[in-house]
Amino acid sequence: MYLTIEGIEKSFSHQEKGQIKVLDNINLEVEKGQFVSIVGPSGCGKSTLLYLIAGLEHADKGEIHIEGKKVTSAGPDRVVVFQDDGLFPWLTVMDNVTYGLLLKKIPKKEAELKAREMLKMMHLGNYIDSYPHQLSGGMKQRVAIARALVMEPEVLLMDEPFAALDEQTRMVLHKELIEIWKKTKVTIFFITHNIREAVLLSEKIIVFATRPGKIKATFTSTRMKDGFTPNDSTLFLEKQILEVLQEEIEKVLKEEMGDDYNFKTDNLHRDSSDNLGSHI
Ligand SMILES: Nc1ncnc2c1ncn2[C@@H]1O[C@H](COP(=O)(O)OP(=O)(O)OP(=O)(O)O)[C@@H](O)[C@H]1O
Ligand SMILES: [Mg+2]
Repeated sequence: MYLTIEGIEKSFSHQEKGQIKVLDNINLEVEKGQFVSIVGPSGCGKSTLLYLIAGLEHADKGEIHIEGKKVTSAGPDRVVVFQDDGLFPWLTVMDNVTYGLLLKKIPKKEAELKAREMLKMMHLGNYIDSYPHQLSGGMKQRVAIARALVMEPEVLLMDEPFAALDEQTRMVLHKELIEIWKKTKVTIFFITHNIREAVLLSEKIIVFATRPGKIKATFTSTRMKDGFTPNDSTLFLEKQILEVLQEEIEKVLKEEMGDDYNFKTDNLHRDSSDNLGSHI
C-alpha cells in the first residue's frame, strides 16, 4: 500500500479541559494516485490528521508511512492547500508560484518555466503578472493550487480548499482539479463539509466520528464513471453518508448548545437537488 496510517492517536492540552484526545486509533490505507475525501463534524480532527500526514504535527502514538518511509517531518513531497489561499499579497502570481521552487534552489529560469506551464494548466496564463488583490477568490485559489502542484508533490493535502467560494466557481474548480489530478496522478486528501463535493470528486470517502475523532465509515464512489452531474446513485450515496453523520452532528450540537439544544435532525435533510447538496 502506498500510504498507510496506523494506530494514530493525538491529544492536545487545554487550559481548562486538560488533555483532550482528538484522534483515536486512526487506521487508513490509501493507494497511489487515489482521491480520498474526509467528511465529519466540526472539531472531529480532520485538519489534525491532515497536518500529521503533512508532518506539521506529531502523533502521540502510531505511524504514517509513504512508500514505506516513515513521516517524521514536513517535506516537499506533501503540500497543503488551505481554505484561505495564503498567497503573498506583495508578490505577483508568477512570484507566488515560483516562491517554493526558488527556496528549493531551482534556477529562476527553470522555475518560471514550470510555473508558467502550471498556470496555463490552471487557466491563469493571462494573469501571470497580476497581484492577488486583482484576482477573484476562485482565481486566487487556482493560484494556490498551482503553487502547490508546481512543487510536484506526491500527496496533495487539501483542507476545505473551496469552502469560501461561490458554487459556480466551485464547479469550475472541481473540473479543473479532476483534470489536473488525472494529468499529474497525484494522491489527493480532500477535506470538505460538502457531501456532494466529496461524492462527485473522490473515489473513497471517509466519514469521521467525533470526540475523539475516529473513522466511522468508508464509502466508495463511482464518480469516475458518472461525471459531475448528480444522478440516482450519487444522490443515494449522499443520503447514506448523511445518515451515518447525523448521530455525530447531533452529538456536537448537544455539546455546544447544552440546554438550548432542540435541533431536529430532520433539519439536516435538505433537498439535495439544491445546488451542491447537504453541508454538514
Ligand atoms: N494546536 C492545537 N492546540 C490545541 N488544540 C487543538 C490544536 N489543533 C486542534 N486542536 C483541537 O483539536 C480538535 C480538532 O481540531 P481540528 O482542527 O482537527 O478539527 P476539524 O475536524 O478540522 O474541524 P473543522 O471542520 O471545524 O475544521 C478541536 O477541538 C481543536 O480545538
Ligand atoms: Mg479543519
